[in-house]
Amino acid sequence: MTTQPTTNCPDIFAIRSDIPALAREVHGKPLVYLDAAATTPRPQHVIDAINHYETHFPANVHRGVHEFSGEATAAYEGARRSIANFLGADAHQLVFTRGTTESINLVANAWGSTLSPGDEILISALEHHANIVPWQLACERTGAELRVVDVDGDANLHIESVEEAFTERTRLVAMTAVSNAIGTVTPIAAICAAARSRGITTLVDAAQAVPHMHVDFGELGCDFMAWSGHKMYGPTGIGGLIAQPAILEAIPPWQGGGDMIRTVSFESCTWNDIPWKFEAGTPNIGGTIGLGAAVEWLTQIGMGAIADYEQKLLHDAVKRLRSIDRVEIVGTPASRAGAISFVVDGMHPADVGAMLDRHGIAVRAGHHCAQPILERFGLNSTVRIAPAIYNTAGELNTFESSLRRIIDVFG
Ligand code: ALA
Repeated sequence: MTTQPTTNCPDIFAIRSDIPALAREVHGKPLVYLDAAATTPRPQHVIDAINHYETHFPANVHRGVHEFSGEATAAYEGARRSIANFLGADAHQLVFTRGTTESINLVANAWGSTLSPGDEILISALEHHANIVPWQLACERTGAELRVVDVDGDANLHIESVEEAFTERTRLVAMTAVSNAIGTVTPIAAICAAARSRGITTLVDAAQAVPHMHVDFGELGCDFMAWSGHKMYGPTGIGGLIAQPAILEAIPPWQGGGDMIRTVSFESCTWNDIPWKFEAGTPNIGGTIGLGAAVEWLTQIGMGAIADYEQKLLHDAVKRLRSIDRVEIVGTPASRAGAISFVVDGMHPADVGAMLDRHGIAVRAGHHCAQPILERFGLNSTVRIAPAIYNTAGELNTFESSLRRIIDVFG
Protein backbone atom coordinates (compact mmCIF):
# COMPACT_ATOMS: atom_id res chain seq x y z
CA MET A 1 0.00 0.00 0.00
CA THR A 2 1.72 3.16 -1.11
CA THR A 3 1.14 6.87 -1.41
CA GLN A 4 3.96 7.26 -3.96
CA PRO A 5 4.72 10.85 -4.90
CA THR A 6 4.10 11.66 -8.52
CA THR A 7 4.87 14.54 -10.82
CA ASN A 8 1.61 13.97 -12.63
CA CYS A 9 -0.70 16.70 -11.29
CA PRO A 10 -4.33 15.77 -11.96
CA ASP A 11 -6.67 18.23 -13.64
CA ILE A 12 -9.11 18.73 -10.74
CA PHE A 13 -11.54 20.80 -12.79
CA ALA A 14 -11.77 18.06 -15.44
CA ILE A 15 -12.30 15.51 -12.64
CA ARG A 16 -15.04 17.66 -11.10
CA SER A 17 -16.78 18.03 -14.42
CA ASP A 18 -16.85 14.20 -14.69
CA ILE A 19 -18.98 14.03 -11.51
CA PRO A 20 -22.44 15.52 -12.12
CA ALA A 21 -23.56 15.65 -8.46
CA LEU A 22 -20.76 18.12 -7.66
CA ALA A 23 -22.46 20.75 -9.84
CA ARG A 24 -25.49 20.86 -7.52
CA GLU A 25 -26.48 23.72 -5.28
CA VAL A 26 -27.59 22.98 -1.73
CA HIS A 27 -29.64 25.55 0.20
CA GLY A 28 -28.82 28.02 -2.57
CA LYS A 29 -25.06 27.52 -2.19
CA PRO A 30 -22.65 25.57 -4.39
CA LEU A 31 -22.23 22.11 -2.89
CA VAL A 32 -18.93 21.54 -1.08
CA TYR A 33 -18.90 17.78 -0.64
CA LEU A 34 -16.55 16.83 2.21
CA ASP A 35 -18.05 13.41 3.02
CA ALA A 36 -16.11 10.99 0.80
CA ALA A 37 -15.48 8.68 3.77
CA ALA A 38 -19.22 7.98 3.90
CA THR A 39 -19.52 7.59 0.13
CA THR A 40 -17.83 9.02 -2.94
CA PRO A 41 -20.02 10.64 -5.62
CA ARG A 42 -20.34 8.76 -8.91
CA PRO A 43 -18.57 9.85 -12.12
CA GLN A 44 -20.63 9.98 -15.33
CA HIS A 45 -18.51 7.09 -16.69
CA VAL A 46 -19.87 4.87 -13.89
CA ILE A 47 -23.46 6.05 -14.38
CA ASP A 48 -23.13 5.41 -18.14
CA ALA A 49 -21.78 1.89 -17.63
CA ILE A 50 -24.73 0.98 -15.38
CA ASN A 51 -27.18 2.57 -17.81
CA HIS A 52 -25.62 0.67 -20.70
CA TYR A 53 -26.16 -2.66 -18.93
CA GLU A 54 -29.70 -1.80 -17.82
CA THR A 55 -30.61 -0.50 -21.29
CA HIS A 56 -28.94 -2.98 -23.63
CA PHE A 57 -28.49 -6.37 -21.93
CA PRO A 58 -30.30 -6.47 -18.55
CA ALA A 59 -30.03 -10.25 -18.27
CA ASN A 60 -28.95 -12.63 -15.53
CA VAL A 61 -25.40 -14.01 -15.50
CA HIS A 62 -24.03 -17.56 -15.78
CA ARG A 63 -27.45 -19.06 -16.46
CA GLY A 64 -28.90 -18.17 -19.85
CA VAL A 65 -28.11 -19.73 -23.17
CA HIS A 66 -29.19 -16.58 -24.98
CA GLU A 67 -27.11 -13.70 -26.34
CA PHE A 68 -28.33 -11.24 -23.72
CA SER A 69 -27.14 -13.40 -20.86
CA GLY A 70 -23.83 -14.02 -22.60
CA GLU A 71 -23.24 -10.28 -22.86
CA ALA A 72 -24.18 -9.71 -19.21
CA THR A 73 -21.88 -12.56 -18.11
CA ALA A 74 -18.99 -11.23 -20.20
CA ALA A 75 -19.40 -7.73 -18.74
CA TYR A 76 -19.78 -9.04 -15.16
CA GLU A 77 -16.77 -11.36 -15.32
CA GLY A 78 -14.78 -8.72 -17.23
CA ALA A 79 -15.42 -6.31 -14.36
CA ARG A 80 -14.22 -8.97 -11.91
CA ARG A 81 -10.95 -9.30 -13.83
CA SER A 82 -10.28 -5.58 -13.99
CA ILE A 83 -11.26 -4.89 -10.35
CA ALA A 84 -9.12 -7.81 -9.13
CA ASN A 85 -6.21 -6.63 -11.27
CA PHE A 86 -6.59 -3.06 -9.92
CA LEU A 87 -6.31 -4.43 -6.37
CA GLY A 88 -3.38 -6.76 -7.07
CA ALA A 89 -5.25 -10.06 -7.19
CA ASP A 90 -6.45 -12.69 -9.66
CA ALA A 91 -10.10 -12.88 -10.64
CA HIS A 92 -10.69 -16.20 -8.84
CA GLN A 93 -9.63 -14.58 -5.56
CA LEU A 94 -12.33 -11.91 -5.72
CA VAL A 95 -15.76 -12.67 -4.22
CA PHE A 96 -18.34 -9.97 -4.85
CA THR A 97 -20.39 -8.93 -1.83
CA ARG A 98 -22.56 -5.94 -0.89
CA GLY A 99 -19.49 -4.26 0.58
CA THR A 100 -17.01 -4.30 3.44
CA THR A 101 -19.58 -5.18 6.09
CA GLU A 102 -20.86 -8.21 4.21
CA SER A 103 -17.30 -9.30 3.35
CA ILE A 104 -16.27 -9.29 7.01
CA ASN A 105 -19.47 -11.09 7.99
CA LEU A 106 -18.69 -13.71 5.34
CA VAL A 107 -15.27 -14.32 6.89
CA ALA A 108 -16.64 -14.25 10.45
CA ASN A 109 -19.21 -16.89 9.52
CA ALA A 110 -17.32 -19.11 7.07
CA TRP A 111 -13.73 -18.95 8.32
CA GLY A 112 -15.06 -18.13 11.82
CA SER A 113 -16.69 -21.58 12.00
CA THR A 114 -13.17 -22.99 12.52
CA LEU A 115 -12.71 -21.07 15.80
CA SER A 116 -12.64 -22.94 19.13
CA PRO A 117 -13.24 -21.83 22.71
CA GLY A 118 -10.25 -19.84 23.96
CA ASP A 119 -9.03 -18.82 20.47
CA GLU A 120 -8.27 -15.12 20.25
CA ILE A 121 -9.19 -12.55 17.62
CA LEU A 122 -7.14 -9.37 17.68
CA ILE A 123 -8.57 -6.08 16.46
CA SER A 124 -7.41 -2.50 17.02
CA ALA A 125 -9.07 0.35 18.90
CA LEU A 126 -9.55 2.14 15.56
CA GLU A 127 -12.01 -0.33 14.06
CA HIS A 128 -15.32 0.52 12.43
CA HIS A 129 -18.30 -1.34 13.91
CA ALA A 130 -18.20 -3.57 10.80
CA ASN A 131 -14.90 -4.99 12.02
CA ILE A 132 -16.02 -5.35 15.64
CA VAL A 133 -19.59 -6.66 15.74
CA PRO A 134 -19.16 -9.66 13.36
CA TRP A 135 -16.29 -10.85 15.61
CA GLN A 136 -18.35 -10.39 18.76
CA LEU A 137 -21.04 -12.55 17.16
CA ALA A 138 -18.43 -15.13 16.07
CA CYS A 139 -17.07 -15.19 19.65
CA GLU A 140 -20.58 -15.79 21.01
CA ARG A 141 -21.04 -18.69 18.61
CA THR A 142 -17.68 -20.34 19.18
CA GLY A 143 -16.39 -19.34 22.62
CA ALA A 144 -13.48 -17.44 21.08
CA GLU A 145 -12.31 -14.20 22.71
CA LEU A 146 -12.07 -10.71 21.22
CA ARG A 147 -8.99 -8.70 22.22
CA VAL A 148 -8.22 -5.09 21.36
CA VAL A 149 -4.87 -3.39 20.71
CA ASP A 150 -4.92 0.23 21.87
CA VAL A 151 -3.54 3.25 20.01
CA ASP A 152 -1.32 5.99 21.46
CA GLY A 153 -2.54 9.45 22.48
CA ASP A 154 -2.19 10.70 18.90
CA ALA A 155 -4.26 7.76 17.57
CA ASN A 156 -1.27 5.96 16.05
CA LEU A 157 -1.38 2.17 16.02
CA HIS A 158 2.06 0.72 16.68
CA ILE A 159 3.30 -2.57 15.30
CA GLU A 160 5.04 -3.18 18.66
CA SER A 161 1.68 -2.98 20.49
CA VAL A 162 0.21 -5.51 18.07
CA GLU A 163 3.17 -7.86 18.50
CA GLU A 164 2.95 -7.58 22.29
CA ALA A 165 -0.69 -8.67 22.12
CA PHE A 166 0.04 -11.89 20.20
CA THR A 167 -0.36 -15.05 22.25
CA GLU A 168 -0.27 -18.76 21.49
CA ARG A 169 -4.04 -18.55 21.06
CA THR A 170 -4.17 -15.69 18.53
CA ARG A 171 -5.90 -17.07 15.45
CA LEU A 172 -6.81 -13.90 13.57
CA VAL A 173 -5.64 -10.31 13.29
CA ALA A 174 -8.45 -8.22 11.76
CA MET A 175 -7.45 -4.58 11.41
CA THR A 176 -8.11 -1.53 9.36
CA ALA A 177 -5.64 0.01 6.92
CA VAL A 178 -7.10 3.49 7.47
CA SER A 179 -9.38 4.65 10.30
CA ASN A 180 -12.67 6.04 9.01
CA ALA A 181 -13.20 8.23 12.09
CA ILE A 182 -9.71 9.67 12.66
CA GLY A 183 -7.87 9.10 9.37
CA THR A 184 -4.95 7.17 10.89
CA VAL A 185 -3.00 5.12 8.34
CA THR A 186 -1.92 2.00 10.20
CA PRO A 187 1.29 -0.01 9.54
CA ILE A 188 -0.93 -2.72 8.11
CA ALA A 189 1.61 -4.47 5.86
CA ALA A 190 4.04 -4.81 8.79
CA ILE A 191 1.19 -6.07 11.00
CA CYS A 192 0.26 -8.69 8.41
CA ALA A 193 3.90 -9.78 8.02
CA ALA A 194 4.32 -10.12 11.80
CA ALA A 195 1.09 -12.10 12.11
CA ARG A 196 1.78 -14.39 9.18
CA SER A 197 5.29 -15.20 10.45
CA ARG A 198 3.51 -16.63 13.51
CA GLY A 199 0.97 -18.54 11.42
CA ILE A 200 -1.86 -16.13 12.34
CA THR A 201 -4.56 -15.47 9.73
CA THR A 202 -4.97 -11.81 8.71
CA LEU A 203 -7.89 -9.70 7.54
CA VAL A 204 -7.52 -6.11 6.35
CA ASP A 205 -10.42 -3.67 6.30
CA ALA A 206 -9.35 -1.64 3.26
CA ALA A 207 -12.59 0.33 2.88
CA GLN A 208 -11.00 3.70 3.63
CA ALA A 209 -7.72 2.90 1.87
CA VAL A 210 -8.82 1.90 -1.65
CA PRO A 211 -10.08 5.36 -2.71
CA HIS A 212 -6.99 7.19 -1.48
CA MET A 213 -3.89 5.17 -2.31
CA HIS A 214 -2.54 2.28 -4.33
CA VAL A 215 -3.69 -0.89 -2.54
CA ASP A 216 -2.27 -4.21 -3.69
CA PHE A 217 -3.50 -7.41 -2.05
CA GLY A 218 -0.25 -9.24 -2.91
CA GLU A 219 1.93 -6.49 -1.45
CA LEU A 220 -0.19 -6.28 1.71
CA GLY A 221 0.46 -9.95 2.32
CA CYS A 222 -2.83 -10.62 4.09
CA ASP A 223 -5.25 -13.55 3.87
CA PHE A 224 -8.48 -11.55 3.49
CA MET A 225 -9.09 -8.00 2.30
CA ALA A 226 -12.54 -6.38 2.50
CA TRP A 227 -13.59 -3.16 0.74
CA SER A 228 -16.60 -1.31 -0.63
CA GLY A 229 -17.28 -0.07 -4.16
CA HIS A 230 -19.22 3.04 -3.17
CA LYS A 231 -16.19 4.48 -1.39
CA MET A 232 -14.14 4.19 -4.61
CA TYR A 233 -16.55 6.00 -6.95
CA GLY A 234 -18.64 2.90 -7.73
CA PRO A 235 -22.31 2.44 -6.84
CA THR A 236 -23.65 1.34 -3.45
CA GLY A 237 -24.43 -2.31 -2.75
CA ILE A 238 -21.29 -3.73 -4.36
CA GLY A 239 -17.87 -4.46 -2.92
CA GLY A 240 -15.75 -7.46 -2.35
CA LEU A 241 -13.61 -9.83 -0.44
CA ILE A 242 -10.23 -10.78 -1.85
CA ALA A 243 -8.66 -13.84 -0.27
CA GLN A 244 -5.92 -16.40 -0.59
CA PRO A 245 -7.32 -19.11 -2.89
CA ALA A 246 -6.32 -21.99 -0.61
CA ILE A 247 -8.39 -20.49 2.23
CA LEU A 248 -11.40 -19.89 -0.03
CA GLU A 249 -11.13 -23.51 -1.16
CA ALA A 250 -10.91 -24.77 2.43
CA ILE A 251 -13.67 -22.82 4.17
CA PRO A 252 -17.36 -23.69 3.85
CA PRO A 253 -19.80 -21.50 1.90
CA TRP A 254 -21.63 -18.87 3.93
CA GLN A 255 -24.91 -18.51 2.06
CA GLY A 256 -26.63 -21.26 0.09
CA GLY A 257 -28.67 -20.97 -3.10
CA GLY A 258 -28.34 -20.77 -6.84
CA ASP A 259 -24.97 -20.35 -8.58
CA MET A 260 -22.85 -21.38 -5.57
CA ILE A 261 -23.44 -25.12 -6.18
CA ARG A 262 -22.19 -27.65 -8.71
CA THR A 263 -24.78 -30.35 -7.92
CA VAL A 264 -27.78 -30.50 -5.61
CA SER A 265 -29.88 -33.45 -4.48
CA PHE A 266 -32.18 -33.73 -1.48
CA GLU A 267 -29.42 -35.63 0.29
CA SER A 268 -26.37 -33.45 -0.39
CA CYS A 269 -24.69 -30.77 -2.50
CA THR A 270 -21.32 -30.08 -4.02
CA TRP A 271 -19.95 -26.57 -4.32
CA ASN A 272 -19.10 -24.46 -7.33
CA ASP A 273 -15.49 -23.36 -7.90
CA ILE A 274 -14.18 -20.27 -6.15
CA PRO A 275 -15.15 -17.45 -6.18
CA TRP A 276 -18.71 -18.44 -7.20
CA LYS A 277 -18.96 -20.82 -4.23
CA PHE A 278 -19.50 -17.64 -2.17
CA GLU A 279 -21.88 -15.85 -4.53
CA ALA A 280 -25.32 -17.35 -3.87
CA GLY A 281 -28.23 -15.90 -5.83
CA THR A 282 -28.42 -13.28 -8.54
CA PRO A 283 -25.61 -10.81 -7.92
CA ASN A 284 -25.60 -7.02 -8.25
CA ILE A 285 -24.77 -7.17 -11.97
CA GLY A 286 -25.26 -3.51 -12.85
CA GLY A 287 -23.38 -2.46 -9.71
CA THR A 288 -20.46 -4.72 -10.56
CA ILE A 289 -20.25 -3.33 -14.08
CA GLY A 290 -20.43 0.19 -12.61
CA LEU A 291 -17.60 -0.65 -10.21
CA GLY A 292 -15.53 -1.91 -13.15
CA ALA A 293 -16.05 1.51 -14.74
CA ALA A 294 -15.02 3.23 -11.48
CA VAL A 295 -11.76 1.31 -11.55
CA GLU A 296 -11.16 2.48 -15.15
CA TRP A 297 -11.84 6.05 -14.03
CA LEU A 298 -9.44 5.80 -11.07
CA THR A 299 -6.78 4.15 -13.23
CA GLN A 300 -6.97 6.95 -15.72
CA ILE A 301 -6.28 9.55 -13.02
CA GLY A 302 -3.68 7.33 -11.32
CA MET A 303 -3.69 6.32 -7.65
CA GLY A 304 -0.26 7.92 -7.13
CA ALA A 305 -1.57 11.27 -8.38
CA ILE A 306 -4.69 10.91 -6.22
CA ALA A 307 -2.66 10.13 -3.08
CA ASP A 308 -0.34 13.04 -3.71
CA TYR A 309 -3.05 15.60 -4.30
CA GLU A 310 -5.17 14.40 -1.37
CA GLN A 311 -2.18 14.64 0.99
CA LYS A 312 -1.86 18.32 0.07
CA LEU A 313 -5.59 18.84 0.72
CA LEU A 314 -5.34 17.15 4.12
CA HIS A 315 -2.32 19.24 5.19
CA ASP A 316 -4.13 22.38 4.10
CA ALA A 317 -7.31 21.35 5.98
CA VAL A 318 -5.39 20.49 9.17
CA LYS A 319 -3.61 23.86 9.04
CA ARG A 320 -6.88 25.72 8.58
CA LEU A 321 -8.60 23.86 11.44
CA ARG A 322 -5.62 24.47 13.74
CA SER A 323 -5.87 28.19 13.06
CA ILE A 324 -9.44 28.42 14.41
CA ASP A 325 -9.89 29.13 18.12
CA ARG A 326 -12.03 26.57 19.98
CA VAL A 327 -11.52 23.91 17.31
CA GLU A 328 -9.71 20.79 18.39
CA ILE A 329 -8.64 18.09 15.96
CA VAL A 330 -9.23 14.61 17.38
CA GLY A 331 -6.16 12.46 16.80
CA THR A 332 -2.94 13.68 15.23
CA PRO A 333 -1.60 10.52 13.57
CA ALA A 334 1.83 10.53 11.93
CA SER A 335 0.25 9.33 8.71
CA ARG A 336 -3.26 10.33 7.71
CA ALA A 337 -5.57 9.58 4.80
CA GLY A 338 -9.12 10.47 3.94
CA ALA A 339 -10.50 12.02 7.12
CA ILE A 340 -10.07 14.63 9.83
CA SER A 341 -12.28 14.63 12.94
CA PHE A 342 -12.70 17.68 15.10
CA VAL A 343 -14.82 19.18 17.85
CA VAL A 344 -15.73 22.80 18.56
CA ASP A 345 -15.59 23.76 22.22
CA GLY A 346 -19.12 24.50 23.49
CA MET A 347 -20.93 23.30 20.37
CA HIS A 348 -22.50 19.93 19.65
CA PRO A 349 -21.04 18.26 16.51
CA ALA A 350 -24.56 17.62 15.18
CA ASP A 351 -25.28 21.37 15.35
CA VAL A 352 -22.01 22.25 13.64
CA GLY A 353 -22.77 19.69 10.89
CA ALA A 354 -26.31 21.01 10.41
CA MET A 355 -25.11 24.62 10.22
CA LEU A 356 -22.37 23.74 7.73
CA ASP A 357 -25.08 22.07 5.65
CA ARG A 358 -26.93 25.42 5.51
CA HIS A 359 -23.74 26.79 3.90
CA GLY A 360 -23.86 24.00 1.31
CA ILE A 361 -21.07 22.06 3.02
CA ALA A 362 -21.60 18.31 3.48
CA VAL A 363 -19.75 16.75 6.42
CA ARG A 364 -20.55 13.88 8.75
CA ALA A 365 -21.27 14.47 12.45
CA GLY A 366 -21.75 11.68 14.96
CA HIS A 367 -19.87 8.57 16.04
CA HIS A 368 -18.98 7.53 12.48
CA CYS A 369 -19.83 3.88 13.26
CA ALA A 370 -16.66 3.79 15.35
CA GLN A 371 -17.87 4.47 18.88
CA PRO A 372 -14.96 2.79 20.72
CA ILE A 373 -12.25 5.02 19.21
CA LEU A 374 -14.22 8.16 20.02
CA GLU A 375 -14.75 6.91 23.57
CA ARG A 376 -10.99 6.30 23.74
CA PHE A 377 -10.66 10.09 23.35
CA GLY A 378 -13.47 10.83 25.81
CA LEU A 379 -16.02 11.74 23.13
CA ASN A 380 -19.20 10.31 21.72
CA SER A 381 -19.37 12.46 18.64
CA THR A 382 -17.20 14.59 16.32
CA VAL A 383 -17.50 16.51 13.08
CA ARG A 384 -15.62 14.75 10.29
CA ILE A 385 -14.42 16.20 7.03
CA ALA A 386 -13.32 13.77 4.34
CA PRO A 387 -11.81 15.58 1.35
CA ALA A 388 -11.07 13.71 -1.86
CA ILE A 389 -9.56 14.13 -5.32
CA TYR A 390 -12.38 16.39 -6.60
CA ASN A 391 -12.10 18.97 -3.76
CA THR A 392 -10.22 22.23 -4.24
CA ALA A 393 -8.29 24.63 -2.01
CA GLY A 394 -11.09 27.13 -2.75
CA GLU A 395 -13.61 24.73 -1.22
CA LEU A 396 -11.47 24.33 1.89
CA ASN A 397 -11.40 28.09 2.11
CA THR A 398 -15.22 28.19 1.94
CA PHE A 399 -15.35 25.52 4.64
CA GLU A 400 -12.97 27.47 6.88
CA SER A 401 -14.77 30.78 6.53
CA SER A 402 -18.18 29.14 7.05
CA LEU A 403 -16.96 27.37 10.17
CA ARG A 404 -15.50 30.62 11.53
CA ARG A 405 -18.78 32.41 10.90
CA ILE A 406 -20.81 29.63 12.57
CA ILE A 407 -18.56 29.73 15.65
CA ASP A 408 -18.71 33.54 15.81
CA VAL A 409 -22.48 33.71 15.48
CA PHE A 410 -23.70 30.58 17.29
CA GLY A 411 -20.78 29.34 19.33
N1 ALA B 1 -18.33 3.86 7.08
C1 ALA B 1 -18.86 5.05 6.51
C2 ALA B 1 -18.34 6.29 7.19
O1 ALA B 1 -17.30 6.26 7.79
C3 ALA B 1 -20.32 5.04 6.37
O2 ALA B 1 -18.98 7.32 7.12
